[in-house]
Amino acid sequence: MTSAFSDPASQYTWGGRFSESVSDLVKRYTASVSFDRRLWRQDIRGSLAHARMLARQGILDSEDLVAIERGMAAIHKEIETGRFDWSVDLEDVHFNIEKRLTALVGDAGKRLHTGRSRNDQVATDIRLYLRDGVDEAVLLLRALCEALIGLAEREAATPMPGFTHLQVAQPITFGHHMLAYFEMFLRDAERLLDCRRRINRLPLGAAALAGTTYPIDRAMVAAELGFEAVCENSLDAVSDRDFAIEFCAASALVMTHISRLSEELVLWMTPRMGFVRIADRFCTGSSIMPQKKNPDVPELARGKTGRVTGHLVALLTLMKGQPLAYNKDNQEDKEPLFDTLDTLTDTLRVFADMMTSGITARPEAMRAALADGFATATDLADYLTRKGLPFRDAHEAVGRAVKVAEELGVDLSELPLSALKELSPLIEDDVFATLTVEGALAARDHVGGTSPGQVRAAAIRARERLTGVLNGNSPAYTQSL
Ligand code: ARG
Repeated sequence: MTSAFSDPASQYTWGGRFSESVSDLVKRYTASVSFDRRLWRQDIRGSLAHARMLARQGILDSEDLVAIERGMAAIHKEIETGRFDWSVDLEDVHFNIEKRLTALVGDAGKRLHTGRSRNDQVATDIRLYLRDGVDEAVLLLRALCEALIGLAEREAATPMPGFTHLQVAQPITFGHHMLAYFEMFLRDAERLLDCRRRINRLPLGAAALAGTTYPIDRAMVAAELGFEAVCENSLDAVSDRDFAIEFCAASALVMTHISRLSEELVLWMTPRMGFVRIADRFCTGSSIMPQKKNPDVPELARGKTGRVTGHLVALLTLMKGQPLAYNKDNQEDKEPLFDTLDTLTDTLRVFADMMTSGITARPEAMRAALADGFATATDLADYLTRKGLPFRDAHEAVGRAVKVAEELGVDLSELPLSALKELSPLIEDDVFATLTVEGALAARDHVGGTSPGQVRAAAIRARERLTGVLNGNSPAYTQSL
């Protein structure tokens, strides 16, 4: 039988104060190396910036700096090539790397941690990691937005039913519908870029919580690591994770938008609606029903949205009970954060591809659904209103027209003029231009409207606005009015 206390306390970095080792269970319970090792690049980068600053400030000898740089280069290679021996005994990514450094270069490795704590170290690592993550997510959002604009341009004049309450409401174009999602994802990109500004501040220098007694130069470290500024308060720097929470909130919104799009794709793909075809590479079959083609990608994305929203709630809950400053609770920030980032980027990657070349509109099916739903009823009411009838009375007259058409089993545009005249004497031969889908679309000719001309113009503006948001120098909203 192995003893639960088989490890000598002295192997730990803090061993000096301890007389008893932790049990294997506690070791496993408190360790984070299995998941925080993915921060290794950031950890090395942050350590090198710290060491260079220490040397510049005369806190570290230049020979020690050279040794640290040499050791870190070796460690970098070892990890990259899978030859690094990660040890759960060394708790986390920081201790694993530091111990290895000391093994490689001796006392210089032990001097690296001067004026620093794992508390400001880990906060720095996460911010560096997340900053790259945001940049990747924004690039993917850009690809998705471009795909939606492309679809909008191709389908600017393709009529489809617009729905409210999932009932056919009014004709819109498929292009207009795609641009609605463009708007959502453009705001998502704005939100992520805004959140990036608050991620991009340097915690190092806060040390454990109160700062350090060494004459450090935080601005130098910030500049070397590409941070815009330093975190101004040492307690806040090591303890808050609001930047991570913000990122998860922004991600949960992206996923919510993806989920709404997914829900529509699933509906549109049912043979009942058949508005779109989704390329086979995004679908799977059934193991028992040979005829099936299931929209797995949209369904999974819809499902994964719950997971990301869950991570947001987890991080909010993690934070809410913590007194200042650092508490070990914060170690629990990583798995939700990493999984949010992975889920978000995977989802965006597959959606950018699917919306670029995996979706084909089926205009015949859309038109058939329009014919079924009295989609031009509002246009008939507007027609009567233009002829002088108060809108409420027009609404009432058209309601009766729908009833008659329903009884006869025809669309409004198929009702004979005589039947329409019975409902209102104001109706004349010119009504039929209004009752066609093309007429209804062309009539909605203003900024934000669905007429094909407006959709084409909106797509052009969308490209400019996307560039503006990505360059951070232009408002994301419509043309200046
Ligand atoms: N693995 C720890 C974390 O993720 C690093 C910081 C540990 N600090 C400490 N005082 N125990 O938060």
